[in-house]
Amino acid sequence: MTSIKNPPFAAPSTSFLSFSTLLSAVDVLQLKWFYTAAAFLLALLALEQMVYRIKKGHLPGDAWTIPIIGKFSDSRRPTMENYRKGWDSGPLSAASVFNIFIVMASSNDYARKIMNSPLHAEPCLVQIFLNGKTHVDFRKGLTNLFTRSALGIYVAIQDKTTRTHFAQWAKDFSQSPRSIMWTARHLNMDTSLRVFCGNHIPQEATVEIGETYWHITKALQLVNFPFAFPGTNVYNAIQSRKIVMKWLTLAAQGSKIEMARGGEPTCMLDTWVQVLADPTYKGRREFSAHEMALVVFSFLFASQDAMSSGVIYGFQHLVDHPAVLEKMPYLRAVVKESLRMQPPVIMVPYKAVRAFPISDEYTVPAGSMLIPSFYNSLHDSAVYPEPDSFIPERWLDSASAANANPKNWMVWGSGPHMCIGREYAMLSMAIVLGLAATMFDWEHEVTPESDKIDIFSTCFPRDGCRIKFTPRKVA
Ligand code: HEM
Repeated sequence: MTSIKNPPFAAPSTSFLSFSTLLSAVDVLQLKWFYTAAAFLLALLALEQMVYRIKKGHLPGDAWTIPIIGKFSDSRRPTMENYRKGWDSGPLSAASVFNIFIVMASSNDYARKIMNSPLHAEPCLVQIFLNGKTHVDFRKGLTNLFTRSALGIYVAIQDKTTRTHFAQWAKDFSQSPRSIMWTARHLNMDTSLRVFCGNHIPQEATVEIGETYWHITKALQLVNFPFAFPGTNVYNAIQSRKIVMKWLTLAAQGSKIEMARGGEPTCMLDTWVQVLADPTYKGRREFSAHEMALVVFSFLFASQDAMSSGVIYGFQHLVDHPAVLEKMPYLRAVVKESLRMQPPVIMVPYKAVRAFPISDEYTVPAGSMLIPSFYNSLHDSAVYPEPDSFIPERWLDSASAANANPKNWMVWGSGPHMCIGREYAMLSMAIVLGLAATMFDWEHEVTPESDKIDIFSTCFPRDGCRIKFTPRKVA
């Protein structure tokens, strides 16, 4: 038996250091390491606060940032109330998430300045939108996909797809009000895929893309958890993107084959292939099927959530104003007013590529995230009297303050990256709302959540907008 006093690993009793002395030497060493590491950590945390305070300068915002994560929990569950608090604290305000320093711009002037200063700031939501001269040239080529004659091809598809969906709505929504959230998202996805890819995409693909796309929507936060571990939103979105890209690439290959055979263009991909083959076309001509699929993916990405939000709020604003619903000739004014009242996209993230002297008193540090916000511009009472009321008439008089101040109309952003799909989007909303107004009687089940706003990449009524659609006798 080995006694405690003489353990097998004990130093010989004749040794200068007794066992307990050795242990305490190890303890001291460990303590030293512990204190050194703790001091280092504390220094890092202090440095984090110092850097935040120096960058923030005099801007409103928290005096201290939560160590490491900053306002991560706010950015995971964004609310309109929290955003409003930031917007109302000043035209520029500061925050930090995972040490990304963020400057929020809520006034019309600052928001426009960010989006119109390409030398200082560029979009940073995802890497699908290009920047600089590459962006200008690329965008010029893509405007051919949104000409009047191209929109003419799309209208027929939009009308047909919408009517097919409404035939189903007539069955599903005529008994009692139900949330139109998923139904409207499905309608948008189906319409977009048919407009973009026509018959080059099979029905099963539209179903699969529609289902998997939700993972991409879920990853659309200003700042995500920074690692794409399995199970995280970003990881799931990457897997979904692979599925979507597989189908879109096949569609682009199909379109190239069909156009080479001399077929008539029936969708956006066909229009593009034809434009590239036109001898008068100046610009890059060679695009692989994968590259074309990437562009269509970026359109889907840019449109699906914003269009769903726009259509759902279009329904909600109209169903709550039956007198307006009766006068659909002013459909465009209705669409504009609905988008103004609740812009689907309330802000876009940019990144300061160099120090940006945004005002006389403040220079945004290079590398900061900049967030021009549109809501205040679209609710400015000097331009839109009674800004919280739904008044489409404000768009009918060409001399009205609303029409005289187009710089406040920031639903589509501003500057070189302004939404390229805006005419198509307005047309889509007008078709869906106009057809529904002629085909159905609408009934809104107003709930305590109807006026609450869920921000899920774009904005949605929290109850999903519960409507009963009864088919009209004469359509
Ligand atoms: C109601 C629906 C929509 C809304 C509210 C909306 C809003 C926006 C906004 C705010 C921007 C950023 C502008 C900026 O940074 O200055 C944008 C960019 C963009 N949108 Fe839309 N959008 C909608 C529908 C669409 C559709 C249907 C498409 C395509 C078919 C589309 C394609 C794009 C593209 C490609 C960009 C980036 C343009 C560039 O970087 O040059 N959007 N959109």
